[in-house]
Amino acid sequence: MRAIVTHGTGGPEVLAPGEIERPEPGPDEVLVRVAATAVNRADVAQRQGNYPAPPGESEILGLEVAGRIEALGEGVSRWRVGDRVMSLVGGGGYAEYALAPASTLLAVPERIDLVTAAAIPEVFITAYLNIFREAALRQNETLLVHGGASGVGTAAIQLARRLRDARVLVTVGSDTKADACRALGAETILYRSESFADRVRALTDKRGVDVVLDHVGGGYLAENLRCLATYGRLVVIGLLGGAKAELNIGQLMVKRQRIIGSVLRARPVAEKAEICRAFRAEVMPLLEDGRLEPVIHARLPLAEAGEAHRLMGANANTGKLLLVVDEGLD
Ligand SMILES: NC(=O)c1ccc[n+]([C@@H]2O[C@H](COP(=O)([O-])OP(=O)(O)OC[C@H]3O[C@@H](n4cnc5c(N)ncnc54)[C@H](OP(=O)(O)O)[C@@H]3O)[C@@H](O)[C@H]2O)c1
Repeated sequence: MRAIVTHGTGGPEVLAPGEIERPEPGPDEVLVRVAATAVNRADVAQRQGNYPAPPGESEILGLEVAGRIEALGEGVSRWRVGDRVMSLVGGGGYAEYALAPASTLLAVPERIDLVTAAAIPEVFITAYLNIFREAALRQNETLLVHGGASGVGTAAIQLARRLRDARVLVTVGSDTKADACRALGAETILYRSESFADRVRALTDKRGVDVVLDHVGGGYLAENLRCLATYGRLVVIGLLGGAKAELNIGQLMVKRQRIIGSVLRARPVAEKAEICRAFRAEVMPLLEDGRLEPVIHARLPLAEAGEAHRLMGANANTGKLLLVVDEGLD
């Protein structure tokens, strides 16, 4: 089958189309014929050699797919061959066929085409998990999202607005990205030209926000805590700004704040299945009726995975970068 093969580690040029063996579904797995997959920052880090595939997972990049079920593994009874599905996968998405655990499959809503559906699993589940389950955002609270125009950011804004009626502030690197986030209902902060923490404090009458969803890490820790309210929760999901920082523990104690670290990929399948069960109940109805929409920057053919990685590496995307494998599957 066709796939994107990684020739060593390095820049986008190490990615090239190739042929590999089609996998066979094991117990409780399905084989998905892939309509599209999408690019995630974790793929970029894996390509660079900084985030190896977990033991037992495919070396092929790609953490999400949408398509039709081609074959069922032993013990799978809830799904049928031909079903339209989307799912997180442990790896192997940049290919014509990919294995997915039956327990994390989501039925693609009728109104959404299969290629578009590939923009949903990773960012919507990540945003849902971290904002609501990890940081426990409550009704009418205020959320700060860094990288508001990112795949995760565009999902986070919509989820927080629709599910909790939250006030959402976001940081963005350009006016174009700010426009896109405002259209989704966020208030925007151009972090390159002003201190985001000063702006957050000004916008909240010095109270700060209840939750910060952060993918910058070390470089932002002190400023994130400075604009976090008493009893606020900071959930860190990425390290684009470094892994280390100094922490003023006294201030953390006095303000009764919490810092939460979270990754999705490394969680056991049973845990992902439980998250997907909750996601099906709470979020899928809003994707089904159009109250939530994935934001898509571009659709490229699978063979142009390298170009998609270049775009992401240059922070050029607003929303998701899709890799189209087979548009004719719908
Ligand atoms: N822990 C998890 O389970 C999990 C799961 C999925 C994603 N993530 C993480 O969530 C983040 C967003 O993922 P994504 O796929 O949505 O990314 P994305 O679409 O590529 O967007 C990331 C954006 O972050 C901003 N950015 C990049 N480098 C930065 C830096 N050093 N400091 C501040 N801002 C920076 C850029 O926007 P501007 O132009 O606005 O600066 C960039 O476009 C990534 O870090 C990813 O690894 C974590």
